[in-house]
Amino acid sequence: MKIAIGNDHAGVEFKNKLMEELRSKGYEIMNVGTDTLDSVDYPDIAKKVSEKVLNGEAKFGILICGTGIGISIAANKIKGIRAALCHNEYTAKLSRLHNDANIIALGARVLGEDLGLACVEAFVNTEFEGGRHAKRVGKIEL
Ligand code: RB5
Repeated sequence: MKIAIGNDHAGVEFKNKLMEELRSKGYEIMNVGTDTLDSVDYPDIAKKVSEKVLNGEAKFGILICGTGIGISIAANKIKGIRAALCHNEYTAKLSRLHNDANIIALGARVLGEDLGLACVEAFVNTEFEGGRHAKRVGKIEL
């Protein structure tokens, strides 16, 4: 499975650990950066990952900033993106089941790396339930 990943300066270490674990489990990870501690603007990263999801290069996206808040707000302004800020496996799973989220956002200053990995695995391995949820997701007009 192809997954695009991107982060601001607050998420470099967290991202590196996550990428290493995901690659060792066989996921194909496309890293859009950033890879240094130099300050960058999270909306630019949100855009890069969103483009890869929308053009089909990646099935899902992972976005990381300090809290996950700014980068999820930015991604959710992009048409076709449903970015879910998740803090545990339950919200990660439900964001796929009920919301058909296509990007998971994580807070590097909020979660431990093991929990981040568990969230991502719950997210990418859960299918959208459809049915009544499809009608609701369809009403999200962006
Ligand atoms: C960067 O310091 C921080 O503001 C950013 O990573 C993020 O938490 C914003 O929502």
